[in-house]
Amino acid sequence: MQVDARTVKKHFEKSMEDYDDNAVVQRLIADNLVEELSKIKKYFPSVLELGSGTGLLTRVFSSKCKFDSYTANDLTERAKFYLDKILPRYDFICGNAEKIKTNSSFDLIISNAMFQWFSDLENAVCKHFYSMLKAGGVLAFTTFSNDNFEEVRSITGLSLEYKSFDEISKIISKKYEILYSKNFDYVMKFKTPLELLAHMKHTGVNSLGVKKWSIVQVKDFCEKYRNLYPEISLTYSPVIFIVQKK
Ligand SMILES: C[S@@+](CC[C@H](N)C(=O)[O-])C[C@H]1O[C@@H](n2cnc3c(N)ncnc32)[C@H](O)[C@@H]1O
Repeated sequence: MQVDARTVKKHFEKSMEDYDDNAVVQRLIADNLVEELSKIKKYFPSVLELGSGTGLLTRVFSSKCKFDSYTANDLTERAKFYLDKILPRYDFICGNAEKIKTNSSFDLIISNAMFQWFSDLENAVCKHFYSMLKAGGVLAFTTFSNDNFEEVRSITGLSLEYKSFDEISKIISKKYEILYSKNFDYVMKFKTPLELLAHMKHTGVNSLGVKKWSIVQVKDFCEKYRNLYPEISLTYSPVIFIVQKK
């Protein structure tokens, strides 16, 4: 299932205060993305960041790469509170990245841990963002592939409609040359299933079901989790792509 942008926004607004302390994997892949990008190029005159959130990626990108103008986007205006602390100057476009409109074009479009919520990845990447990139412009992003949170899916049946690494590669290759790509699993372990649920909530990734769970549902989830995954493990499956407009 895909979750509508309003639900994603609501969950993120609630999790922003706790996000940086809990976003272990998101931080790892933001670092990884910028490290690989800076090996390819370190200066991008105009940059558009999609889904800037609490500025995890903004912070690492702006410390390692150079740019003249920075435009940031997020579903929530609250992202500006964090951007203000990182960037002396920036433009902000509030709204769903799949639909934002701008008259500018960019040398780099960058995004961390956000594309998994898109309702139509191919349209977003191959049409919308493609049209906002200058000739030879670079799109650098991370997202998650279909092994992501496999434990939660096996117990609840709830999951975003993640694409596999090969499916994403195939979509991207229609309009871009792949400069760098990687997919790996990262397993986190928790003391209890409740701690795991809190981790998901604090990173805003509890946008899996529309309805709030009852106490009975939570108890049932915890019992099944302990039985099936006694180590209380949670698998992330990040994907990193750095691609250039053909
Ligand atoms: C997991 S956080 C990632 C934040 C940040 N990029 C980072 O590196 O940690 C996802 C952010 O993307 C935003 N977001 C989710 N879907 C979006 C969409 N369709 N358009 C714009 N922003 C979106 C959320 O509001 C949230 O702030």
